[in-house]
Amino acid sequence: MIKKFITFEGLDGCGKSTQANLLKMHFENRGEETLFLREPGGTPLGELLRTSILKKNVEINPHAEALLFAASRIQLTEEIKKYYTKKTIICDRFLDSSLAYQCGGRGVSLEFLKKINTFANIEPNITFLIKVNPETSFKRVLAQGKIDRIESESLQFYEAVYEFYKKLAKDNENRIIVLDGHQKVEEIHKEILSYLRL
Ligand code: TYD
Repeated sequence: MIKKFITFEGLDGCGKSTQANLLKMHFENRGEETLFLREPGGTPLGELLRTSILKKNVEINPHAEALLFAASRIQLTEEIKKYYTKKTIICDRFLDSSLAYQCGGRGVSLEFLKKINTFANIEPNITFLIKVNPETSFKRVLAQGKIDRIESESLQFYEAVYEFYKKLAKDNENRIIVLDGHQKVEEIHKEILSYLRL
């Protein structure tokens, strides 16, 4: 079984949080304790930063935004390292989100992103990228009603993030597993279990 550090990625509304939670429940039903984290957030500092980063109508410069996400992630990395050899860690988003959203979506350079994330130097063992097309993501987000600062972006922004996720998947074939997020929740869950040989 592949375990340790498992991350979930994808556009808003792709269903990754649902899948991350289902996987956590699966481990728990088997009596295996997991550490469940999310980004931005997952630590007291991270959760404070999350509130500021996602607050609507607050103007944030793209580089400042990238730095805030990195600060949350660096703090979270400390937590991950503490449990890395002890528990399976499931994280809802990690560095790939910054690459897709801040580089792909906002146009912040990869070089800058890599530099500021130097201290978040831990690579997931496996990443599930739940792929839905930008239109679906956009529609699902609108339907959910309560929209945060980043979810208020245009369809064009979502398209750019989507393209970058595709590139990341291509460049990291050994780590990133792409799943079709248009399928039923149970189908996706089954695929995840099968990839993890659970
Ligand atoms: P998420 O928690 O997935 O949103 P929700 O709980 O509302 O489904 O992520 C919050 C938003 O932050 C999401 O739009 C993606 C964005 N984000 C970035 O832009 N960069 C990052 O590095 C991370 C971790 C998230």
